[in-house]
Amino acid sequence: MCKSFYLPHFFIVLAVFSCRKDPSVEPHEATLIDPDLPAGLPPMTVPADNPFTQEGIALGRKLFYEKRLSGDNTLACAGCHAPEAAFSDPRQFSEGITGALGNRNSMALINLGYNTSFFWDGRAETLEDQVLEPVPNPIEMHQNWPDAVAKLENDLTYQYLFFQAFGTHVIDSIKVSKAMAQFLRTMVSGNSRFDQSQQGLIALNSMEQSGAVIFFTEEGDCFHCHGGPMFSSLTFHNNGLDAVHNDHGRAIVTGDSDDIGKFKAPTLRNIAYTAPYMHDGRFATLDEVINHYSEGVHWSPTIDPNMKKADQGGLHLDPQQKAQLKAFLLALSDPEFVNNPDFSDPE
Ligand code: HEC
Ligand code: HEC
Repeated sequence: MCKSFYLPHFFIVLAVFSCRKDPSVEPHEATLIDPDLPAGLPPMTVPADNPFTQEGIALGRKLFYEKRLSGDNTLACAGCHAPEAAFSDPRQFSEGITGALGNRNSMALINLGYNTSFFWDGRAETLEDQVLEPVPNPIEMHQNWPDAVAKLENDLTYQYLFFQAFGTHVIDSIKVSKAMAQFLRTMVSGNSRFDQSQQGLIALNSMEQSGAVIFFTEEGDCFHCHGGPMFSSLTFHNNGLDAVHNDHGRAIVTGDSDDIGKFKAPTLRNIAYTAPYMHDGRFATLDEVINHYSEGVHWSPTIDPNMKKADQGGLHLDPQQKAQLKAFLLALSDPEFVNNPDFSDPE
Protein backbone atom coordinates (compact mmCIF):
# COMPACT_ATOMS: atom_id res chain seq x y z
CA MET A 1 0.00 0.00 0.00
CA CYS A 2 3.01 2.30 0.36
CA LYS A 3 4.31 2.17 -3.21
CA SER A 4 5.25 5.56 -4.61
CA PHE A 5 3.96 6.43 -8.00
CA TYR A 6 3.90 9.69 -9.74
CA LEU A 7 0.67 11.12 -8.41
CA PRO A 8 -0.91 14.50 -7.94
CA HIS A 9 -0.08 16.11 -4.59
CA PHE A 10 -3.38 15.25 -2.99
CA PHE A 11 -2.74 11.49 -3.32
CA ILE A 12 0.80 11.71 -2.06
CA VAL A 13 -0.40 13.31 1.18
CA LEU A 14 -2.93 10.51 1.66
CA ALA A 15 -0.36 7.80 0.97
CA VAL A 16 2.10 9.26 3.48
CA PHE A 17 -0.61 9.49 6.12
CA SER A 18 -1.65 5.83 5.78
CA CYS A 19 1.96 4.63 6.15
CA ARG A 20 2.72 6.52 9.35
CA LYS A 21 3.86 4.25 12.21
CA ASP A 22 1.65 5.84 14.82
CA PRO A 23 0.54 3.09 17.25
CA SER A 24 -2.65 4.93 18.11
CA VAL A 25 -3.82 4.60 14.51
CA GLU A 26 -2.50 1.20 13.44
CA PRO A 27 -3.98 -1.95 14.96
CA HIS A 28 -1.37 -4.07 16.72
CA GLU A 29 -1.25 -7.84 16.37
CA ALA A 30 0.23 -9.62 19.39
CA THR A 31 2.54 -12.57 18.66
CA LEU A 32 0.72 -15.90 19.04
CA ILE A 33 2.88 -18.64 20.55
CA ASP A 34 2.59 -22.29 21.55
CA PRO A 35 3.40 -23.06 25.16
CA ASP A 36 6.56 -25.01 25.80
CA LEU A 37 5.26 -28.10 27.65
CA PRO A 38 7.49 -30.57 29.50
CA ALA A 39 7.40 -34.16 28.20
CA GLY A 40 5.52 -35.34 31.29
CA LEU A 41 2.40 -33.26 30.50
CA PRO A 42 -0.45 -33.74 28.00
CA PRO A 43 -1.51 -31.03 25.49
CA MET A 44 -3.25 -28.03 27.11
CA THR A 45 -6.57 -26.63 25.92
CA VAL A 46 -6.54 -22.85 25.97
CA PRO A 47 -9.73 -20.68 25.72
CA ALA A 48 -10.31 -19.54 22.14
CA ASP A 49 -10.81 -15.94 23.29
CA ASN A 50 -7.53 -15.82 25.22
CA PRO A 51 -4.76 -17.53 23.25
CA PHE A 52 -1.14 -17.36 24.41
CA THR A 53 0.72 -14.35 23.08
CA GLN A 54 4.26 -13.34 23.89
CA GLU A 55 3.10 -9.86 24.89
CA GLY A 56 0.13 -11.11 26.95
CA ILE A 57 2.33 -13.47 28.97
CA ALA A 58 4.93 -10.75 29.62
CA LEU A 59 2.23 -8.36 30.79
CA GLY A 60 0.60 -11.03 32.98
CA ARG A 61 3.93 -11.74 34.62
CA LYS A 62 4.46 -8.07 35.45
CA LEU A 63 0.92 -7.81 36.84
CA PHE A 64 1.42 -10.90 39.03
CA TYR A 65 4.19 -9.01 40.85
CA GLU A 66 2.36 -5.61 40.76
CA LYS A 67 1.75 -4.25 44.27
CA ARG A 68 -0.35 -1.35 42.96
CA LEU A 69 -3.17 -3.84 42.39
CA SER A 70 -3.69 -3.60 46.17
CA GLY A 71 -5.35 -0.72 48.02
CA ASP A 72 -2.20 0.52 49.75
CA ASN A 73 0.31 -0.55 47.06
CA THR A 74 1.97 -3.12 49.33
CA LEU A 75 0.64 -6.52 48.27
CA ALA A 76 0.99 -8.32 44.93
CA CYS A 77 -0.40 -11.73 44.01
CA ALA A 78 3.11 -13.04 44.60
CA GLY A 79 2.88 -11.82 48.22
CA CYS A 80 0.73 -14.89 48.95
CA HIS A 81 2.03 -17.05 46.10
CA ALA A 82 5.82 -17.08 46.47
CA PRO A 83 7.98 -18.75 43.78
CA GLU A 84 10.18 -20.61 46.29
CA ALA A 85 7.04 -22.14 47.83
CA ALA A 86 5.85 -23.35 44.38
CA PHE A 87 3.70 -20.19 44.37
CA SER A 88 1.96 -20.94 47.67
CA ASP A 89 2.37 -19.25 51.07
CA PRO A 90 4.48 -20.76 53.88
CA ARG A 91 2.13 -19.08 56.40
CA GLN A 92 -0.91 -21.08 57.51
CA PHE A 93 -3.19 -18.16 56.67
CA SER A 94 -2.06 -15.30 54.44
CA GLU A 95 -2.40 -11.71 55.62
CA GLY A 96 -4.35 -9.19 53.53
CA ILE A 97 -3.43 -5.48 53.43
CA THR A 98 -5.55 -4.69 56.50
CA GLY A 99 -3.83 -7.43 58.48
CA ALA A 100 -6.96 -9.59 58.24
CA LEU A 101 -6.40 -13.33 57.99
CA GLY A 102 -8.44 -15.65 55.81
CA ASN A 103 -9.48 -19.12 56.94
CA ARG A 104 -7.84 -21.00 54.08
CA ASN A 105 -4.24 -21.76 53.16
CA SER A 106 -2.99 -20.18 49.94
CA MET A 107 -2.85 -22.68 47.07
CA ALA A 108 0.19 -23.63 45.02
CA LEU A 109 -0.07 -22.39 41.41
CA ILE A 110 1.05 -25.37 39.31
CA ASN A 111 -0.28 -26.63 35.95
CA LEU A 112 -3.43 -24.51 36.37
CA GLY A 113 -4.09 -24.60 32.61
CA TYR A 114 -5.30 -28.17 33.12
CA ASN A 115 -7.66 -27.39 36.01
CA THR A 116 -11.41 -27.24 35.53
CA SER A 117 -12.24 -25.23 38.67
CA PHE A 118 -10.35 -22.93 41.01
CA PHE A 119 -10.10 -22.34 44.79
CA TRP A 120 -10.43 -25.06 47.44
CA ASP A 121 -14.19 -25.12 46.87
CA GLY A 122 -14.02 -24.67 43.08
CA ARG A 123 -16.08 -21.47 43.12
CA ALA A 124 -14.35 -20.03 40.03
CA GLU A 125 -14.89 -21.94 36.81
CA THR A 126 -12.16 -20.32 34.73
CA LEU A 127 -8.76 -18.93 35.49
CA GLU A 128 -9.85 -15.60 34.00
CA ASP A 129 -12.71 -15.46 36.57
CA GLN A 130 -10.42 -16.54 39.42
CA VAL A 131 -8.02 -13.67 38.82
CA LEU A 132 -10.80 -11.10 39.24
CA GLU A 133 -11.41 -12.12 42.86
CA PRO A 134 -8.28 -11.36 44.97
CA VAL A 135 -8.07 -7.65 44.00
CA PRO A 136 -11.43 -6.49 45.46
CA ASN A 137 -11.44 -9.13 48.24
CA PRO A 138 -11.41 -7.13 51.52
CA ILE A 139 -9.19 -9.68 53.29
CA GLU A 140 -6.73 -9.80 50.40
CA MET A 141 -5.76 -6.89 48.11
CA HIS A 142 -8.80 -4.78 49.06
CA GLN A 143 -9.05 -2.41 46.10
CA ASN A 144 -12.00 -2.02 43.74
CA TRP A 145 -11.26 -2.67 40.09
CA PRO A 146 -11.88 0.91 38.84
CA ASP A 147 -9.19 2.17 41.27
CA ALA A 148 -6.77 -0.62 40.30
CA VAL A 149 -7.33 0.10 36.59
CA ALA A 150 -6.88 3.88 37.14
CA LYS A 151 -3.46 3.26 38.73
CA LEU A 152 -2.37 1.18 35.75
CA GLU A 153 -3.72 3.73 33.26
CA ASN A 154 -1.65 6.45 34.92
CA ASP A 155 1.50 4.52 34.12
CA LEU A 156 2.79 4.94 30.57
CA THR A 157 4.62 1.62 30.72
CA TYR A 158 1.34 -0.20 31.30
CA GLN A 159 -0.40 1.78 28.55
CA TYR A 160 2.32 0.59 26.19
CA LEU A 161 2.24 -3.03 27.42
CA PHE A 162 -1.57 -3.27 27.17
CA PHE A 163 -1.37 -1.84 23.67
CA GLN A 164 1.26 -4.44 22.74
CA ALA A 165 -0.85 -7.28 24.17
CA PHE A 166 -4.38 -6.21 23.21
CA GLY A 167 -4.04 -3.47 20.57
CA THR A 168 -5.58 -0.76 22.76
CA HIS A 169 -4.47 1.62 25.49
CA VAL A 170 -7.82 1.24 27.22
CA ILE A 171 -7.22 -0.88 30.30
CA ASP A 172 -9.94 -2.81 32.10
CA SER A 173 -10.22 -5.68 34.57
CA ILE A 174 -11.03 -8.18 31.80
CA LYS A 175 -7.74 -7.48 30.02
CA VAL A 176 -5.85 -7.64 33.34
CA SER A 177 -7.41 -11.03 34.04
CA LYS A 178 -6.72 -12.31 30.53
CA ALA A 179 -3.04 -11.36 30.66
CA MET A 180 -2.61 -12.80 34.13
CA ALA A 181 -4.41 -16.05 33.14
CA GLN A 182 -2.03 -16.41 30.19
CA PHE A 183 0.97 -16.08 32.48
CA LEU A 184 -0.49 -18.50 35.05
CA ARG A 185 -1.04 -21.09 32.28
CA THR A 186 2.65 -20.95 31.36
CA MET A 187 3.53 -22.06 34.92
CA VAL A 188 3.88 -25.73 34.07
CA SER A 189 5.81 -28.33 36.02
CA GLY A 190 6.60 -31.79 34.66
CA ASN A 191 10.27 -32.46 35.26
CA SER A 192 10.44 -34.16 38.65
CA ARG A 193 12.49 -37.28 39.39
CA PHE A 194 9.23 -39.18 38.93
CA ASP A 195 8.77 -37.70 35.41
CA GLN A 196 12.39 -38.41 34.53
CA SER A 197 11.96 -42.02 35.63
CA GLN A 198 8.80 -42.32 33.49
CA GLN A 199 10.84 -41.16 30.50
CA GLY A 200 13.56 -43.74 31.26
CA LEU A 201 16.15 -41.03 32.00
CA ILE A 202 16.79 -42.10 35.60
CA ALA A 203 15.65 -44.91 37.90
CA LEU A 204 13.90 -44.15 41.19
CA ASN A 205 15.78 -45.54 44.20
CA SER A 206 14.34 -48.49 46.11
CA MET A 207 12.68 -46.34 48.82
CA GLU A 208 10.96 -44.21 46.15
CA GLN A 209 9.91 -47.30 44.21
CA SER A 210 8.38 -48.95 47.28
CA GLY A 211 6.61 -45.65 48.02
CA ALA A 212 5.25 -45.58 44.46
CA VAL A 213 3.75 -49.03 44.99
CA ILE A 214 1.94 -47.81 48.12
CA PHE A 215 0.80 -44.66 46.30
CA PHE A 216 -0.46 -46.34 43.11
CA THR A 217 -2.06 -49.47 44.60
CA GLU A 218 -4.83 -50.32 47.05
CA GLU A 219 -2.16 -50.36 49.77
CA GLY A 220 -2.32 -46.55 50.07
CA ASP A 221 -5.06 -45.70 47.56
CA CYS A 222 -3.57 -42.25 47.05
CA PHE A 223 -3.90 -42.55 43.25
CA HIS A 224 -7.70 -42.51 43.38
CA CYS A 225 -7.70 -38.83 44.25
CA HIS A 226 -4.14 -37.79 43.37
CA GLY A 227 -3.62 -39.83 40.18
CA GLY A 228 -2.93 -39.01 36.51
CA PRO A 229 -0.38 -36.57 35.14
CA MET A 230 -1.71 -33.76 37.38
CA PHE A 231 -1.46 -35.89 40.55
CA SER A 232 -5.03 -34.72 41.18
CA SER A 233 -8.50 -35.96 40.29
CA LEU A 234 -9.30 -32.24 39.80
CA THR A 235 -12.55 -32.84 41.72
CA PHE A 236 -13.77 -32.62 45.30
CA HIS A 237 -13.48 -35.19 48.08
CA ASN A 238 -13.82 -35.49 51.83
CA ASN A 239 -10.52 -37.06 52.91
CA GLY A 240 -11.51 -37.49 56.54
CA LEU A 241 -9.90 -34.49 58.21
CA ASP A 242 -12.81 -33.86 60.61
CA ALA A 243 -15.89 -35.52 62.04
CA VAL A 244 -17.67 -32.16 62.04
CA HIS A 245 -16.87 -29.55 59.36
CA ASN A 246 -16.51 -25.87 60.27
CA ASP A 247 -15.71 -24.98 56.67
CA HIS A 248 -18.32 -26.63 54.45
CA GLY A 249 -16.04 -26.49 51.38
CA ARG A 250 -17.68 -27.49 48.11
CA ALA A 251 -21.16 -27.32 49.71
CA ILE A 252 -20.80 -23.52 50.00
CA VAL A 253 -20.83 -23.43 46.19
CA THR A 254 -23.38 -26.15 45.38
CA GLY A 255 -25.67 -25.76 48.42
CA ASP A 256 -25.81 -29.57 48.48
CA SER A 257 -25.37 -31.22 51.89
CA ASP A 258 -23.73 -34.20 50.13
CA ASP A 259 -20.80 -31.85 49.44
CA ILE A 260 -20.14 -30.79 53.04
CA GLY A 261 -16.46 -31.18 53.90
CA LYS A 262 -15.38 -31.81 50.30
CA PHE A 263 -12.39 -29.84 48.97
CA LYS A 264 -10.50 -29.83 45.70
CA ALA A 265 -7.85 -32.58 45.65
CA PRO A 266 -4.65 -30.53 45.32
CA THR A 267 -1.88 -31.56 42.98
CA LEU A 268 0.94 -33.35 44.82
CA ARG A 269 3.54 -32.10 42.36
CA ASN A 270 6.14 -30.00 44.25
CA ILE A 271 4.47 -30.92 47.53
CA ALA A 272 7.83 -30.66 49.34
CA TYR A 273 7.78 -26.87 48.74
CA THR A 274 4.19 -26.07 49.67
CA ALA A 275 3.90 -26.62 53.45
CA PRO A 276 1.72 -26.18 55.41
CA TYR A 277 -0.88 -28.60 54.10
CA MET A 278 -4.66 -28.95 53.61
CA HIS A 279 -7.26 -26.21 53.00
CA ASP A 280 -6.64 -24.76 56.46
CA GLY A 281 -2.91 -25.43 56.57
CA ARG A 282 -3.37 -27.59 59.67
CA PHE A 283 -0.38 -29.86 59.01
CA ALA A 284 3.09 -28.33 59.10
CA THR A 285 4.94 -31.33 57.61
CA LEU A 286 4.49 -34.22 55.21
CA ASP A 287 5.00 -36.58 58.17
CA GLU A 288 1.88 -35.11 59.76
CA VAL A 289 -0.02 -35.58 56.47
CA ILE A 290 1.06 -39.22 56.25
CA ASN A 291 0.10 -39.78 59.90
CA HIS A 292 -3.34 -38.39 59.07
CA TYR A 293 -3.92 -40.94 56.30
CA SER A 294 -2.37 -43.67 58.45
CA GLU A 295 -4.17 -43.23 61.75
CA GLY A 296 -5.90 -39.80 61.92
CA VAL A 297 -8.90 -40.29 59.61
CA HIS A 298 -12.31 -39.23 60.92
CA TRP A 299 -15.51 -40.70 59.59
CA SER A 300 -18.36 -38.33 58.62
CA PRO A 301 -21.40 -38.82 56.37
CA THR A 302 -19.73 -37.44 53.22
CA ILE A 303 -16.45 -39.35 53.58
CA ASP A 304 -15.12 -40.47 50.21
CA PRO A 305 -15.61 -44.18 49.41
CA ASN A 306 -11.92 -44.30 48.49
CA MET A 307 -11.01 -43.56 52.10
CA LYS A 308 -11.59 -47.29 52.47
CA LYS A 309 -10.23 -47.77 55.97
CA ALA A 310 -11.92 -44.69 57.43
CA ASP A 311 -13.89 -46.83 59.86
CA GLN A 312 -10.56 -48.07 61.27
CA GLY A 313 -9.08 -44.56 61.50
CA GLY A 314 -6.84 -44.98 58.44
CA LEU A 315 -4.36 -47.19 56.60
CA HIS A 316 -2.19 -48.13 59.62
CA LEU A 317 1.11 -47.98 57.78
CA ASP A 318 4.26 -49.10 59.63
CA PRO A 319 7.23 -46.69 60.03
CA GLN A 320 9.02 -48.26 57.05
CA GLN A 321 5.99 -47.78 54.77
CA LYS A 322 5.58 -44.18 55.96
CA ALA A 323 9.21 -43.45 55.09
CA GLN A 324 8.77 -45.04 51.66
CA LEU A 325 5.62 -43.03 50.92
CA LYS A 326 7.40 -39.83 51.96
CA ALA A 327 10.38 -40.66 49.72
CA PHE A 328 7.97 -41.02 46.80
CA LEU A 329 6.25 -37.70 47.56
CA LEU A 330 9.66 -36.00 47.61
CA ALA A 331 10.38 -37.45 44.14
CA LEU A 332 7.57 -35.21 42.83
CA SER A 333 9.71 -32.08 43.34
CA ASP A 334 10.70 -30.15 40.23
CA PRO A 335 13.43 -27.66 41.26
CA GLU A 336 13.49 -26.28 37.70
CA PHE A 337 9.91 -25.12 38.21
CA VAL A 338 10.46 -23.14 41.40
CA ASN A 339 13.70 -21.65 40.03
CA ASN A 340 12.40 -20.95 36.51
CA PRO A 341 13.58 -17.40 35.63
CA ASP A 342 10.56 -16.98 33.31
CA PHE A 343 8.25 -17.03 36.34
CA SER A 344 10.23 -14.63 38.54
CA ASP A 345 9.65 -10.93 39.20
CA PRO A 346 10.54 -9.16 35.94
CA GLU A 347 11.68 -6.00 37.79
C1 HEC B 1 -3.77 -12.38 50.78
C2 HEC B 1 -3.22 -13.53 50.10
C3 HEC B 1 -3.52 -13.74 48.65
C4 HEC B 1 -3.34 -12.87 47.60
C5 HEC B 1 -2.86 -11.43 47.65
C6 HEC B 1 -3.68 -13.59 46.41
N1 HEC B 1 -4.03 -14.87 46.71
FE1 HEC B 1 -4.50 -16.35 45.39
N2 HEC B 1 -5.10 -17.54 46.90
C7 HEC B 1 -4.99 -17.22 48.24
C8 HEC B 1 -5.75 -18.17 49.02
C9 HEC B 1 -5.89 -18.17 50.54
C10 HEC B 1 -6.33 -19.08 48.11
C11 HEC B 1 -7.34 -20.18 48.43
C12 HEC B 1 -8.64 -19.45 48.74
C13 HEC B 1 -9.89 -20.30 48.79
O1 HEC B 1 -9.87 -21.44 48.35
O2 HEC B 1 -10.91 -19.80 49.27
C14 HEC B 1 -5.87 -18.66 46.78
C15 HEC B 1 -6.19 -19.31 45.59
C16 HEC B 1 -5.72 -18.93 44.33
C17 HEC B 1 -5.89 -19.68 43.10
C18 HEC B 1 -6.61 -21.01 42.94
C19 HEC B 1 -5.64 -22.15 42.65
C20 HEC B 1 -6.31 -23.47 42.45
O3 HEC B 1 -5.60 -24.48 42.31
O4 HEC B 1 -7.55 -23.55 42.43
C21 HEC B 1 -5.31 -18.94 42.10
C22 HEC B 1 -5.21 -19.30 40.63
C23 HEC B 1 -4.79 -17.74 42.70
N3 HEC B 1 -5.04 -17.77 44.06
C24 HEC B 1 -4.17 -16.71 42.02
C25 HEC B 1 -3.99 -15.44 42.54
C26 HEC B 1 -3.74 -14.24 41.75
C27 HEC B 1 -3.61 -14.21 40.24
C28 HEC B 1 -3.62 -13.20 42.63
C29 HEC B 1 -3.44 -11.74 42.32
C30 HEC B 1 -4.48 -11.12 41.51
C31 HEC B 1 -3.78 -13.76 43.96
N4 HEC B 1 -4.02 -15.10 43.86
C32 HEC B 1 -3.65 -13.02 45.14
C33 HEC B 1 -4.28 -16.16 48.77
C34 HEC B 1 -3.96 -15.01 48.06
C1 HEC C 1 -10.57 -39.76 48.80
C2 HEC C 1 -9.62 -38.93 48.11
C3 HEC C 1 -8.22 -38.87 48.64
C4 HEC C 1 -7.36 -39.91 48.91
C5 HEC C 1 -7.63 -41.41 48.80
C6 HEC C 1 -6.12 -39.30 49.30
N1 HEC C 1 -6.21 -37.94 49.29
FE1 HEC C 1 -4.78 -36.62 49.76
N2 HEC C 1 -6.10 -35.10 49.61
C7 HEC C 1 -7.41 -35.22 49.20
C8 HEC C 1 -8.09 -33.96 49.37
C9 HEC C 1 -9.54 -33.67 49.01
C10 HEC C 1 -7.15 -33.08 49.93
C11 HEC C 1 -7.42 -31.64 50.39
C12 HEC C 1 -8.27 -31.77 51.65
C13 HEC C 1 -8.50 -30.51 52.40
O1 HEC C 1 -7.64 -29.64 52.41
O2 HEC C 1 -9.56 -30.40 53.04
C14 HEC C 1 -5.90 -33.83 50.06
C15 HEC C 1 -4.73 -33.29 50.54
C16 HEC C 1 -3.51 -33.97 50.54
C17 HEC C 1 -2.24 -33.38 50.82
C18 HEC C 1 -2.00 -31.90 51.14
C19 HEC C 1 -1.87 -31.11 49.86
C20 HEC C 1 -1.78 -29.63 50.03
O3 HEC C 1 -1.39 -28.97 49.06
O4 HEC C 1 -2.10 -29.11 51.10
C21 HEC C 1 -1.28 -34.35 50.69
C22 HEC C 1 0.21 -34.19 50.85
C23 HEC C 1 -1.99 -35.58 50.37
N3 HEC C 1 -3.34 -35.31 50.28
C24 HEC C 1 -1.38 -36.80 50.17
C25 HEC C 1 -2.08 -37.99 50.05
C26 HEC C 1 -1.49 -39.30 50.14
C27 HEC C 1 -0.02 -39.56 50.36
C28 HEC C 1 -2.49 -40.22 50.02
C29 HEC C 1 -2.42 -41.71 50.13
C30 HEC C 1 -1.96 -42.20 51.41
C31 HEC C 1 -3.73 -39.46 49.83
N4 HEC C 1 -3.44 -38.11 49.86
C32 HEC C 1 -4.97 -40.02 49.64
C33 HEC C 1 -8.00 -36.36 48.72
C34 HEC C 1 -7.48 -37.64 48.88
